[in-house]
Amino acid sequence: MKSKVVLASDFGKDFLWGVAIAAQQNEGARNVGGRSDSIWDTFADKNNKIKNNQKIGNACDFFHLYKQDIDLCKLIGFNTFRFSLSWSRILPNGTGTPNMEGIRFYNQVIDYCLEKNIRPFVTLYHWDLPNVLELEGGWTSHRMLDWFSHYTETCAIHFGDRVKDWIVLNEPAGFTTLGYMLGMHAPGRRGISSFFPAIHNTLLCQAQGGRILRKNIPDARIGTTFSCSYIFPNSDKPEDIKAAQRLDALVNRLFVEPLLGLGYPRVSNFKFLEKLEVHNLAWRHKEQMAFDFDFIGLQNYFPITVKHNPIIPYIAANEVKPKDRNVPYTSMGWEINSHAFGLITRQFAKYQNIPRLIITENGASFKDVIVDNKINDVKRIQYYKSHLTELLQLKKEGLPIDGYLAWTLTDNFEWNYGYSPKFGLVHIDRETQERTMKKSGYWFKTFLHT
Ligand code: BGC
Repeated sequence: MKSKVVLASDFGKDFLWGVAIAAQQNEGARNVGGRSDSIWDTFADKNNKIKNNQKIGNACDFFHLYKQDIDLCKLIGFNTFRFSLSWSRILPNGTGTPNMEGIRFYNQVIDYCLEKNIRPFVTLYHWDLPNVLELEGGWTSHRMLDWFSHYTETCAIHFGDRVKDWIVLNEPAGFTTLGYMLGMHAPGRRGISSFFPAIHNTLLCQAQGGRILRKNIPDARIGTTFSCSYIFPNSDKPEDIKAAQRLDALVNRLFVEPLLGLGYPRVSNFKFLEKLEVHNLAWRHKEQMAFDFDFIGLQNYFPITVKHNPIIPYIAANEVKPKDRNVPYTSMGWEINSHAFGLITRQFAKYQNIPRLIITENGASFKDVIVDNKINDVKRIQYYKSHLTELLQLKKEGLPIDGYLAWTLTDNFEWNYGYSPKFGLVHIDRETQERTMKKSGYWFKTFLHT
């Protein structure tokens, strides 16, 4: 039986429809207007940190072309535009006096959104720590709490009169694991001696950021985001089920549960978590790690299938390709599974004290398929259709979902993968910066206008 076509209007008139971008992935203008280097600039400058040794360069030059991008957002019909602030542009020394040129840039972006009747959704931190702070220890340093508090307060003071939707952190599990445990992302550190303190300082900043925003902007809607992946055990053998529980604790529970006042997650016989909790004396800060956010942002890209494997350090598990499902993949090899998107969203919605949910990122990379000079990205359209169908089902079940933000507007700098993955609804010519709407952009336009 063919499923009913989903309409934007099925989600209600107040639903937030938007796109998300991030400063490091889009802005360019590295040394323009007093901006200092971020950890990503320094990391990508080194050899072979980014696929094919690519460099960040000017990214999408959003710094100069922001009006074009906000116009595109408007043209497609989005009512919400999520972007992040570059800490190095606002506080080039990491702390201290703000750089007024940086403040002016974001004022222009915010004002232009408002002029176009688009809601600016601002992320404080999307992975681009000022490198000067990394030299002082970065996320492993206890001083992060002071640095982050000052940065948050500066942003709240300068933008809080007009920005009423705030996201404190983008995917803490992502930047701590990839950047401080596995060395694949900036700043490229590895091992538990960096990972453990980075987790704890991040948890403290996550809640503190919320408190500072609340104090400075009492009428703001404040949230923070989490990456999430439904974890499938590879079989129903008890050891695979336990492996899935361990991974679930690290991937999905580690940052949300302390925030909800539940403390660090626990899984029986999972020594790694016990060690983490003891090392960080986590119980001492149970209250400090908690904050009543107005919403939680969920970002889902793929599920993970996991198998028990005793030789893998710490987690005794490894990811495997799903054996019993005939699954499609994105160009990055990520499993496409809208059913699993539903499962993980329901898992988060079960927490008692999560008031509202917003899908703050969801999307997929596919190779450009050019037909008659047009980018005919039918697979991306299929991806969005299947995920929006699932989302509507979740809403019908009564999950408190207020919005959906697609990742992303324009093809951009995809971290250690460089520029090869294409996630955008809009293609960018890397030489000329010319923007060309893909078929998926037009699809969204029709979807949002009917
Ligand atoms: C991040 C984005 C990233 C996207 C696709 C998310 O984890 O927030 O910055 O581009 O995934 O990898």
